[in-house]
This record gives sequence, C-alpha cells and structure tokens, in this order.
Amino acid sequence: MRVLGIETSCDETGVAVVDGERGLLSHALYSQVALHAEYGGVVPELASRDHIRKLLPLVRQALDEAGTVPSDLSGVAYTAGPGLLGALLVGAGVARSLAWAWGLPAVAVHHMEGHLLAPMLDADPPDYPFVALLVSGGHTMLVDVQGLGRYRILGESLDDAAGEAFDKTAKLLGLGYPGGPALAKQAEHGDPGRFHFPRPMTDRPGLDFSFSGLKTRALTALRDVHSEQDRADVARAFEEAVVDTLVIKCLRAVEDTGAARLVVAGGVGANRRLRVRLREAAEARDVSVHYPALEFCTDNGAMIALAGMLHLQRGEAEDLTIQARARWGL
Ligand code: KG4
Ligand code: ZN
Repeated sequence: MRVLGIETSCDETGVAVVDGERGLLSHALYSQVALHAEYGGVVPELASRDHIRKLLPLVRQALDEAGTVPSDLSGVAYTAGPGLLGALLVGAGVARSLAWAWGLPAVAVHHMEGHLLAPMLDADPPDYPFVALLVSGGHTMLVDVQGLGRYRILGESLDDAAGEAFDKTAKLLGLGYPGGPALAKQAEHGDPGRFHFPRPMTDRPGLDFSFSGLKTRALTALRDVHSEQDRADVARAFEEAVVDTLVIKCLRAVEDTGAARLVVAGGVGANRRLRVRLREAAEARDVSVHYPALEFCTDNGAMIALAGMLHLQRGEAEDLTIQARARWGL
C-alpha cells in the first residue's frame, strides 16, 4: 500500500509518500517562517494563501521523488485538524479533490496523532504500549498509547502550550519568530544559577501543565535586565524550568502507567536540553526514550502519510465530506 500525505495545519506545507513495505519514499516541505517573521507570529490569512501557492507543486515534487504515479497510490491522507481553519481547508480541499479525481479513498488525520506516530517512521520504531509526550506550539499533552487509535490523555496544558511559552518568552527577550530555537540558542550562554523560575504544578499530584506563569516570571526578571548576558541568564532559567517540569511529569506518567517506553514528539521535542535530560532521567529508570528524527519532530507530511496509511490498512476511509476542524480532541 502506498499513501500520499498532506499537512497544512499551520505554517508548514508538507507532502510525503509512504509505502507499506519500503517506508518513506519521499517528503517535501515548504516552511512559511520567513513570510510570518516580520509579524512576530503566524498570520492565518497569509498562511492559507501560501499553502494554496505551494501545495500542488509540492505534491508533484513528492510524487516525482518517490517515482510514483497516482495509479500506484491507495489513498490520500490529510491533516483535518486541529489547527488554523483556513489553512486546514486548503489541505483538505486539495486532498479530497485529488482523491476524487484519482478514484482513491481520502483519510482525515488528527494532527496530534500524526505527531505521536512520527517515531514509527524510524528504521527501528518503538513497540506499543508507550507514553507519548506531545509538545508543540499549540499543544502539550501526555498520552497513554496502547496501540493504533487507542489513546488516553493523561494530562495536558491548562493554558499555554510549551512551544507557545517558548515563543512568547522569546518575544519578551526581543528574539524573532519562531522563538523556541532562538531562545534555546541564547540560553546556551546563560548562567543557570542566576535566576530561579518555578516548576509549575509539580508540587501536587496529576499530569496537567501550566506554562503561562513562566512567561510572567520572565517579564518580572527582565525588569532589571540590561545586558546580553542578563538576557541569556533569563533565557536559561526559563528553559531549565520548562525542561525540568516536562521531565518530572514524564517520569510521573511512566510510573503511573508502568510503561517501559517514552516517545517524545512535536516541535519542542527538538530542544537539545530536553532530549539530553529526558534520556538521562528515563534511562536511570530503565525506560527507553524514542525521538523522531529532527525533521519529523516539527510539522511535516510524512507523519500524516504514515498515520493515514495505518488507518487505511485497517479499512478506515471517509465519505465525500471535506473534514476540517480547528478544534478536535484526540
Ligand atoms: O510541532 P510544531 O512544528 O508545530 C506545531 O504543531 O505547533 O512545533 C512548533 C513549536 C514552536 O513553538 C517552536 O518555538 C518550538 O516548537 N520549537 C522549539 C525548538 N524547536 C522548535 N522549542 C524549544 N526548543 C527548540 N529547539
Ligand atoms: Zn504540529
């Protein structure tokens, strides 16, 4: 079975072809980061228009690079939500139209399911069951994954997502968009002992998160701050606090479920300090940690093609209605 996958939920246009036996055959990605940078964040209308411009050329590129023609395909998968509604509608409209024209089934994929299945693109994928930490710009959640489609949310953010907190704090630090990688870079030169930020909601039981207070804490710290070094110290304290909080909750989730594997996915999963700390802490408890390749940590078409293929293999496809949901529970 061979499936074309389309991702347009936010500011990346991603298209990929996945094969049931040979794995990922091609993936093409266009990032709109430069388009939104001057506005300091994603402008939904501009995102939709750019997806329209880029999507069909990327479909052609992904098919060519995979040496695939439409008659080789078994289906077209697309991100149906959650995300920016206009952006989702572009992907959904194009995917459904191609599927209809090529006489194929279309599969609506949940964006977060795409992220949590991304490690399955690996040559050595983790076995089920596992606990997944999904940390992106829009979501922070811990999920107990028993198998395909068998997901139980253990905890999630009550306010800002981890990536959103990185982006907002980076803005306070005068860093560009997207802020996460820029803040992490600045934090490298920071003194971890200079400021102490709280580890929100770790002093009580439960697996929910709250990151908006850290941004306020950064704002307070920045009042007496003038030099580049001062700013690096604030960035470091913020990053330490987010990473520590995520590590504490992951270990708690692993303990609660008795899982032997932890999967980390979503854009913040690219954070180096998080990767190092989590691996050390988990391995000390005989828990293995799996990360998707860096390029599949952030939004991409490959994870959507894969999730779509796994659902199609179970005989799941949809009728002709175009699905797109800005909000959609996992
Ligand atoms: O998964 P993703 O590409 O898109 C969403 O679905 O949101 O995640 C993007 C988020 C952004 O908030 C970005 O700042 C954050 O991931 N991010 C990072 C790093 N790389 C990306 N945050 C911290 N450290 C990084 N190295
Ligand atoms: Zn995402």
